[in-house]
Amino acid sequence: MQPTVQPFFDPATWTWTYVVHAGEGTACAIIDPVLDYDPKSGRTRTDSAQQVVDYVRAQRLSVQWILETHAHADHLSAAAWLREQLGGRIGIGGRIPSVQGVFKKIFHLEPGFPTDGSQFDHLFADDEVFDIGALQARVLSVPGHTPACVAYQVGDAVFVGDTLFPPDVGTARCDFPGGNARTLYQSVRKLLAMPDDTRLFVCHDYPPNDRAPRCETRVAEQRAHNIHIHDGISEEAFVAMRTQRDAGLQMPQLILPSIQVNIRAGQLPPPEDNGVSYLKIPLNAL
Ligand SMILES: [Fe+2]
Repeated sequence: MQPTVQPFFDPATWTWTYVVHAGEGTACAIIDPVLDYDPKSGRTRTDSAQQVVDYVRAQRLSVQWILETHAHADHLSAAAWLREQLGGRIGIGGRIPSVQGVFKKIFHLEPGFPTDGSQFDHLFADDEVFDIGALQARVLSVPGHTPACVAYQVGDAVFVGDTLFPPDVGTARCDFPGGNARTLYQSVRKLLAMPDDTRLFVCHDYPPNDRAPRCETRVAEQRAHNIHIHDGISEEAFVAMRTQRDAGLQMPQLILPSIQVNIRAGQLPPPEDNGVSYLKIPLNAL
């Protein structure tokens, strides 16, 4: 089964969003959609998500799922806005409550903020199988970048979230709360145990030099060429490399705005009594 995968690249956050489906007029899932956010003005826009809407309408697709691979720290999710436009159910990995618990404390969110994942329409269990129309999909638990990361397998396509990036970029950082380099190594090895020609669709690309952004790699290419985790790199060597590298990375520019929206399934925080929604900046907390 080789589903159609339509990618959309957001150059502002280096994020790939996908629509996966079985052809014109069928059901689809939208994966990791982006809500544009300008940190200078505090203004959101839906230009990126509108491209997804236009594609879904042009292909006459019915949206069954809007899937998140994890609570992203570098872009706001357009899941809630897209559900208003197109319908569908918002799904995420079943360990999201642990992430909500950590960040409810960090952001000192309103007492009524639930940390049971109930902002999402569905929490996926490990290895859960679900349908996207006639396509069958499976959830793979791939923690490490965050403790709640999942990948979605649809036929020969796997949407790997922030585990692997293109081979010349490597792997995702593991220094966010609950992240763990050893766990990421094991998650990536699980993905790379799949058949050689499995298509892997990444959530980000940060292309070096003048290379054009790319979204698709294959298992065989990653095993041969991934600069962080090709075959032959041991768990110990990976953990040492990842830990040292993460110690030198700055926080993503949008981590504070992103997380507090994304743990609400892409809803903005509830408006205050003047009707305005506010984001919080915890000082000296991260
Ligand atoms: Fe991420």
